Amino acid sequence: MNLILLGAPGAGKGTQAEKICEKLSIPAISTGNILREAMANETEMGLKAKSFVEAGNLVPDEVVIGIINDRLKEDDCKNGFILDGFPRTIPQAEALDSMGIGIDKVIDIEVPDDKIASRLSGRRVCLKCGATYHTLFKKPKADGICDSCGDKLVQRKDDMPETVLDRLKTYHEQTEPLKGFYEKKGILRVVEGQEDVAETTALTFKALED
Ligand code: AP5
Ligand code: MG
Repeated sequence: MNLILLGAPGAGKGTQAEKICEKLSIPAISTGNILREAMANETEMGLKAKSFVEAGNLVPDEVVIGIINDRLKEDDCKNGFILDGFPRTIPQAEALDSMGIGIDKVIDIEVPDDKIASRLSGRRVCLKCGATYHTLFKKPKADGICDSCGDKLVQRKDDMPETVLDRLKTYHEQTEPLKGFYEKKGILRVVEGQEDVAETTALTFKALED
């Protein structure tokens, strides 16, 4: 199954992508994680992306379209994939169409803006393996250390409150129109994000069967 996860920053796309990945054994591909890894390794692409990401703006379409074009050609995508954070603009969605990639379902996770700030301010991430934690909702076993790979957990620069507001603005202006784009194709499914991850996951799994 070829899936897209849509939703505001902090709606829980990454969290749900992980659950679907376990259930369906298809890879979860996060353009945000790929960009952060490139930034940490200071590659040419990472250096180019850094100022956009840290300001809460979108990285230019051609950069992320190139990333996805390469990634979807890899062997592990043959039986399906989950796109987390791509597409984020209409031109990105059109690029996916012109690559000849069919999408089965788009799961849109809806969380009101006023709930987003607390979710993101408590988030801690592992820059090495991409795992995500939360100081209240999903604590690691040892404080500040990644359960999966043992690396140090950090707070993303773009999770600072001022930048979160800019990311939300960018989302409403540039990404939200994708709901209409996929609704017209008849493949949009809306999930109301719950306070509890397991409850949200149950709704996500139900949406996969609709
Ligand atoms: P990206 O990394 O994709 O960030 P985002 O879309 O802003 O989304 P987040 O990762 O913040 O949120 P999420 O929905 O994955 O939430 P999560 O599951 O972690 O992109 C970062 C930047 O890269 C962009 O701003 C842009 O600059 C650039 N970029 C990336 N893709 C691009 C593209 N295609 N085009 C252009 N630029 C691009 O959950 C959030 C927190 O809430 C966690 O702490 C979690 O533990 C907690 N939580 C999750 N679910 C629940 C729940 N049900 N109840 C309570 N807490 C919960
Ligand atoms: Mg994410």
